[in-house]
Amino acid sequence: MAKPKIAIIVGTTRPGRFSEIPAAWIAELAAKRPEIEVEVLDLRDYPMPLFDEAGAPAWAPTQNEVALRWQQKVAEADGFIAVTGEYNRGPAAVLKNAFDYAYKEWNRKPIAFVGYGGTGGARAIEQLRLNAIEMQMAPIRVGVHIQAPVYMAVRNEGKTLDSFDFLQQSAGDLLDQLIWWAYVLKAAREDQRAVPLLTPTPHTIPDIEVEAAA
Ligand SMILES: Cc1cc2nc3c(=O)[nH]c(=O)nc-3n(C[C@H](O)[C@H](O)[C@H](O)COP(=O)(O)O)c2cc1C
Repeated sequence: MAKPKIAIIVGTTRPGRFSEIPAAWIAELAAKRPEIEVEVLDLRDYPMPLFDEAGAPAWAPTQNEVALRWQQKVAEADGFIAVTGEYNRGPAAVLKNAFDYAYKEWNRKPIAFVGYGGTGGARAIEQLRLNAIEMQMAPIRVGVHIQAPVYMAVRNEGKTLDSFDFLQQSAGDLLDQLIWWAYVLKAAREDQRAVPLLTPTPHTIPDIEVEAAA
């Protein structure tokens, strides 16, 4: 079996974003693992519109060219680390939109999260874990949570994420678990005996006849 490819998703795009700092840090740690290949996917390179296709990618072919390029990149990966901030207790819309713009390309692959913010991105990560279940993924229990004091020290005092031992520890645990799941699920996806996926069917809304009030 070829080495699993792990894609690290930079989950915010605004000018002055923080996300690229933890993304570069976790990418460097991941690149030291000989069992995997690593690629950083920056959502700035995939400027998709807010989802405006005629149907969900689970059952309708996508038309948007950038989204097709994004789907191709997701398809190439065997596992993911999404780096997320917290916007009003959820992920940035641009990251959720990127989730929505693919479906089968995510299926049966593991995903882990690195978060930052007041609660270390915990609330955004919990939402993303639920989204991942709908996309038939395996969200990893271990997360990396960069809380406010560390965020401020890195932002304002020139500290690096490397200098925090507890982050190194949780990043190591995250990579151990993600790599295990990436191998297991890649082998299972490649196994001809695999159980077929249950794919969602289009939602239909029945016509409702409304009688005008007399
Ligand atoms: C629209 C908006 C909403 C935010 N809401 C939260 C929040 O609910 N919880 C939190 O911890 N931080 C919140 N923040 C602060 C972010 O954690 C901080 O700005 C972080 O740097 C955002 O990620 P980014 O720099 O990668 O865009 C919010 C920031 C923005 C721009």
